[in-house]
Amino acid sequence: MLTLVGLALLDWRFMLAALLAVPVQAHTVRWYVRHAIPLYAEQRISVGTQQQQLLDTVGGASTVRAFRLADRHVDLVTERSSATVTLALQAVRLITRFFGRLNLAEYIGLSAVLVTGFVLVRADAASIGTAAAAALYFHNLFNPINIALALVDDAQVAAAGLARLVGVASLPASPETGAPQVVGGSVKAAGLGHSYVPGHPVLRDVDLHIEPGERVALVGASGAGKTTVAKLVAGIHRPTAGTVHLGGLRLDELGPSATGGAVALITQEVHVFAGRLDDDLRLARPGATEPELRAALDRVGALAWADALPNGVSTVVGEGGHELTVTQAQQLALARLVLAGPPIAVLDEATADAGSAGARVLEEAATAALAGRTALVVAHRLTQAASADRVIVLEAGRVVESGTHDELVAAGGRYAALWAAWSTTR
Ligand SMILES: Nc1ncnc2c1ncn2[C@@H]1O[C@H](COP(=O)(O)OP(=O)(O)OP(=O)(O)O)[C@@H](O)[C@H]1O
Ligand SMILES: [Mg+2]
Repeated sequence: MLTLVGLALLDWRFMLAALLAVPVQAHTVRWYVRHAIPLYAEQRISVGTQQQQLLDTVGGASTVRAFRLADRHVDLVTERSSATVTLALQAVRLITRFFGRLNLAEYIGLSAVLVTGFVLVRADAASIGTAAAAALYFHNLFNPINIALALVDDAQVAAAGLARLVGVASLPASPETGAPQVVGGSVKAAGLGHSYVPGHPVLRDVDLHIEPGERVALVGASGAGKTTVAKLVAGIHRPTAGTVHLGGLRLDELGPSATGGAVALITQEVHVFAGRLDDDLRLARPGATEPELRAALDRVGALAWADALPNGVSTVVGEGGHELTVTQAQQLALARLVLAGPPIAVLDEATADAGSAGARVLEEAATAALAGRTALVVAHRLTQAASADRVIVLEAGRVVESGTHDELVAAGGRYAALWAAWSTTR
């Protein structure tokens, strides 16, 4: 601005000449913003998918290897990476052209000032010194302008990043608008089928109906599909066939946050996040007060050992901190369930040796944590099945028996055989 005033003071015609650069700049910025917004957005998404693919491939390495999916995964990583590279190159080309056009604007302005100077000196309306000063002023003017315009580029990148973040933050809102947030406790699955690898179904036509507050045990041999059913009911995977209703509402209409509020899954792979124990618990309920945390720990029988830790509940646990036993990690998972307080719980716990102290502790903890909830429990120990309201037997992805423990034992079928084997080895 001052420079423009300076130019005007030297001679108003210098200022007019300098202003010739403005329309080119304005047009350049408008052109750039129009192209950059969609391109940067696409680039963010592409980088996201590529990183997600890497996480999937690396995180699921054992599955990838077990199912000989390595080639396919390498292809996917390659494909997503090259898409990202293409977009990055497009962005570089866009920026180069952006700065190229800004330079053109500077060229036009500077030429106009020089020509004006030439004409004015020729007409004796200005001295050579004045014309030189005008050209230098103009040149100086352009550095800050270019810096300011380059900020437009940073702003575009930042805006694309922000849009992604906001997109994630507002994700649950869209499918849930108008959908009731409070979900009842019933679970209903009809005609469930699932294939992890197309053409290899691991579940076929599974029907489940669990009344609110009922506790159903799922039993079956390893590989029968218990974990798969658990994950489908908890909304972790989407079934390839059939539907799941929670509290009378279709799972895929619920949206992620309502699903999370309705059902919790405790898996075989319990993870203790490295950090303070109370922070780990607060993952389930961010605003929980210390008395609430202690009550939850107490309910699952973990308060005594938690208090005995070097710094009580603020002790750093997990990797690099105080190592917890498998039983303790499971108790923490159950305490998180208590804090989250969903009406429906799905348990697919780690196998603890039958009859061991750990198994007994966990069974009591699970009973306490599940009280008042609808529960689907994958029973790795048949005592869990015996104490459930109903037992469902899964074999090779199908429900083969269903009834109370006593009914199934009396029926003398698959469950009765399992129970007999279990009882004698105990
Ligand atoms: N991520 C996956 N990708 C491909 N196949 C899978 C995957 N997870 C499980 N399977 C296959 O699906 C079938 C059912 O597995 P699932 O884990 O549901 O059994 P399970 O009854 O929970 O067994 P376990 O008692 O050993 O936990 C198995 O044949 C298994 O190999
Ligand atoms: Mg399993």
